[in-house]
Amino acid sequence: MSRVFDAAEVAKHNTPESCWVILYGKVYDVTNFLSSHPGGVKSILRLAGKDATEEYDPIHPPGTLEENLKPEQCLGTVNPESLPKPAADAQKSEEKSEGPPPMETLLNLNEIEQVATKQVSRKCWAYYYSASDDLISKRLNNEVYRSILLRPRIFIDVSKCDLSTTLLGHKVGLPIYVSPAAMARLAHPSGEAGIAEACRSFGAAQVISNNASMTPEQIVKNAAPDQVFGWQLYVQVDRQKSENMLARINKLPNIKFVVLTLDAPVPGKREDDLRSDSTGAKLPVTSAESKKDRNDGERMPDGTPALKSGGVGVQLFAGTESRLTWKDTLPWLAKHTKLPIILKGLQTHEDAYIASQFTPQIKGIILSNHGGRALDTAPPAVHTLLEIRKYCPEVFDKLEVWVDGGVRRGTDVVKALCLGARGVGIGRPALWGLGAGGVDGVKRTLQILAEETRTCMQLLGVGKVEDLGPQHINTRIVEQQIYDGPSNLTGFRAAKL
Ligand code: FNR
Ligand code: LAC
Repeated sequence: MSRVFDAAEVAKHNTPESCWVILYGKVYDVTNFLSSHPGGVKSILRLAGKDATEEYDPIHPPGTLEENLKPEQCLGTVNPESLPKPAADAQKSEEKSEGPPPMETLLNLNEIEQVATKQVSRKCWAYYYSASDDLISKRLNNEVYRSILLRPRIFIDVSKCDLSTTLLGHKVGLPIYVSPAAMARLAHPSGEAGIAEACRSFGAAQVISNNASMTPEQIVKNAAPDQVFGWQLYVQVDRQKSENMLARINKLPNIKFVVLTLDAPVPGKREDDLRSDSTGAKLPVTSAESKKDRNDGERMPDGTPALKSGGVGVQLFAGTESRLTWKDTLPWLAKHTKLPIILKGLQTHEDAYIASQFTPQIKGIILSNHGGRALDTAPPAVHTLLEIRKYCPEVFDKLEVWVDGGVRRGTDVVKALCLGARGVGIGRPALWGLGAGGVDGVKRTLQILAEETRTCMQLLGVGKVEDLGPQHINTRIVEQQIYDGPSNLTGFRAAKL
C-alpha cells in the first residue's frame, strides 16, 4: 500500500543529495533526475521539499512525469491536511477579484493586452512581454507598419469582401494565423486547446509550439475536420526526443506541416523574464538575497552565477540544439517526416534564397525575428520582405512567404499581404487574448483583427486577399532603412552549403 507522508517530512528532503517534491498530491524523489532536468537543476531545487504543483502544472504537458521518472520514484501521497495554506498575493487577488471586463467592450489588441496584464501572474506577464536587450526589434516590428502608407482606390464595388485564402494549399478563413508560442497555460487553464477552439470559429490556422503546455494530441482533439495546424520543432540535443515527437505528429491528420525554428539557436537576453523568479516575484538585481537565490543556477568558470540563469525562456531553451546546419539537419528531418517543412526565423534575403534551393522539402519560410526575443536590433519581417523583393523576387514564386512580429492592426495585416506575405502570424496577441478572457479573449482578438483587415481592404478598394499588391502601399520611408549592400547570392549552391 502506498505511504502517506506529512508535508513536514517531505520538507526535510530539500537538498541536491535528497530532493523530493509534491506534485498533484503525490510525493516524488527526483534526486536522480536533477542533473537531467531540461529546465536546469535550479528550477527544481527551489521547489525541493515543497508542493510544486502550481509551478509545475502550467508549463509541463501531461505525460511529462511518466516520460521522465520511473514508477518507483513515486514514494506515496501527501496528507492534504498537512500542507501549508497557499499565501495569497494580496495585490494580485484584489485585481483579479474585479475580473476582466466583458470581451465585447474591448476594441483593439492593445486594450486586450492591458486587461491581460492585470489578469495573469507576474511570471506569465514577464515571460510573454519580454524581448531581448533594449526591445528595439520588438518595438520596430510594430512601428515599421506605421511608416508604410496605404494607397486607397475609389469607385470600386467593395460590398463583398472575402478574407479567405490558402496556406500550403489548405483553405483557411483568414490570412492571419497563430504563431507558435510556448506555455499558453501560464495565461489560462484552457491553454493551447483554448486557442485552437477560438481558431476553429474563424477557420484560422494555428502553429503549435514545441514547448506547448499541452500535448499536440490534446490541442487538436476537438478540431474541425478541415482545421489546419502546424507543429513547430526545436531540434533537441537528444535527437531521439525530437524523433519521437515527429512520429506522434505524423499520426495527427490535422497537422499539415512542420515549422522548424532557426532564429534562436540560443535564447536572447530577456531581462524582464530574467528578473522574474519562478515564484512570480521580481528578483532584486544586486542584493545579497538575489545572489543567494541564484547560487544554484548555471555558473561561470570562477563560480559566479551566469547572467542568463533564470526566467522561463532560459529554462525552455535547455536541451535545444544549437548545431543545426542546412547540410545536416534537413536530410535528418526528411527521414522522420514527409510533412512539408516551413523554416521560421529568416531575416535576410540570402537565407530566403538558400531556402528556395531546398524545394520541394521546404515549402515555405516565415520571416520573423521571434517577436524581438532573439537578436535585438535584428530587422523586422517587413524589411526582409522588401529585401527579398529587391534582390531575389523569384523566391516568392518558389515558396510561400509568411511573416510575424508586431502585427496588432488589420492595416498591418494588409500591408504585409501587399508586400507578398501569404500568411500573417500573431504571437503575443493570442496569448494576451487567452490571459484576458480565455477562449472568448482569443476569439475577440481574432474578431478584431479580422474585422479591421476587412475594413482596411474595403477602404482600399479590394475585395479579395489575392488582389492585394504593392500598388496599394507606399513604402518609401521604410526603403531607406533596408539593407543596401551586395546581393551575396552568387555562388550559393545548395550542394556546397
Ligand atoms: C514565442 N515565439 C516562439 N516561436 C517559436 O518558434 N517557438 C516557440 O516556442 C515560441 N515561443 C514563444 C513564446 C512567447 C511567449 C512569445 C511571445 C513568442 C515567437 C513567436 O512564434 C512569434 O515569432 C512572435 O511572437 C511574433 O511576434 P509578436 O506577434 O509576439 O509581436
Ligand atoms: C520563446 C521560445 C520558447 O520565445 O521560443 O520563449
